[in-house]
Amino acid sequence: MTSIQIDKADPYPVYARMRRMGPVLRLNWAGPEPVWFVTRYRDALAAFKDSRFVRNPVNCGRPARHTPSRGFGHDLIELDPPDHTRLRNLVSKAFTPQMVQRLDRRITQLADQILDSAKSRGEIELISEYASVIPITIISELLGVPVDDIGKFRSFIYLLIHQIPARSDGGLEAAKLRFTNYLHAVFATRRAEPRDDLVSSLVRVQQDSDRLSPDELIGMVYLLLVAGFVTTANLIGNGILALLRHPEQLKLLRQNPAMADTAIEELLRFDSPIEISTPFFASTEIDLSGVQIPRGAVVRVLIASVNRDEEQFPAADKLDITRQPCPHLSFGQGSHYCLGASLARLEGRIAVNRLIERAPNLRLPDPSSIKWAPHRILRGLQQLPLRF
Ligand code: HEM
Repeated sequence: MTSIQIDKADPYPVYARMRRMGPVLRLNWAGPEPVWFVTRYRDALAAFKDSRFVRNPVNCGRPARHTPSRGFGHDLIELDPPDHTRLRNLVSKAFTPQMVQRLDRRITQLADQILDSAKSRGEIELISEYASVIPITIISELLGVPVDDIGKFRSFIYLLIHQIPARSDGGLEAAKLRFTNYLHAVFATRRAEPRDDLVSSLVRVQQDSDRLSPDELIGMVYLLLVAGFVTTANLIGNGILALLRHPEQLKLLRQNPAMADTAIEELLRFDSPIEISTPFFASTEIDLSGVQIPRGAVVRVLIASVNRDEEQFPAADKLDITRQPCPHLSFGQGSHYCLGASLARLEGRIAVNRLIERAPNLRLPDPSSIKWAPHRILRGLQQLPLRF
């Protein structure tokens, strides 16, 4: 195997083959440079925790990433200490667990509102009407973005994620610039009239400590929007599909809603919303299970593969909502561990539970109507039409 070809409908047989072939495989993927893929759980955990793998390419002697738009590329995922530590501490102060806990009622209300209208029609397109609406609405409300602008946000993020060149209005860079200008205007409003929202907290942090540059503030808000939206939509969509494909597990959860916490962990493991990790760069030569990775190499963890590693998860291809422990790596691990994990879990738990409670006759649709998004890194559905 010299290159990697993944079937979105069922990538798992290829991943099983790759785990058998070796712990780290050097393969052609997107772009001219080979990527070193980590296939097994144990090595993935080690790589996530190893600070010799850096996120900012400059720290391993590579050129800086090309990030022409201000703000973009100044986010946590692409930074190393000390910048990463400083920024993460600042955003953690604004993004507190108390803030997330308060959202329980609002998420339930939103889910029920959507389901009320779908129930009267007798059908729902789960991805565009439910799975993606809940996270984008919640993160926009949390940030304090005006509700009327949510539609604008949603199309902008899809544009970015799929890197679709904006056809009529000057391309991706122009779209980024418009978005950055829009955010600056929101910041100015919050600076003048702070409210009880995340943008106001971040603006306050910036003013108080003078340790968050304007570009970093843009980068942070942009990351929270992008990182928290499609990923959570994928969790809800993939999770419902997995349950519909395993009716006995669906029945078990329906009869025991209190199992939702373990169920969400298993759904995160079974079909991880992020299939392939962000790039890590080797800052020195690194030995991973006997494979020598040279300094400067690009390394990625195959999250969807390591979550199905039999060495770690017995009967890994089986969906078992009672599986405990379930230490999947869907939220990463180590210093970049997902900052929004508790919010994603809460949204996932409520969205799945409300749907299966309110729609007792849900059935798996005709397989030809199930469409996976052709994204290289994310794993999620484009379409899942369901009848009540
Ligand atoms: C099911 C949904 C989600 C999944 C599967 C997910 C997954 C991940 C993963 C794998 C990382 C680590 C990336 C790395 O090591 O390079 C990460 C980081 C991050 N996530 Fe999430 N995420 C989800 C939802 C969210 C939400 C709802 C938010 C916020 C609203 C969020 C904000 C972040 C941020 C800010 C980081 C960067 C942390 C850092 O670099 O220190 N995520 N996420």
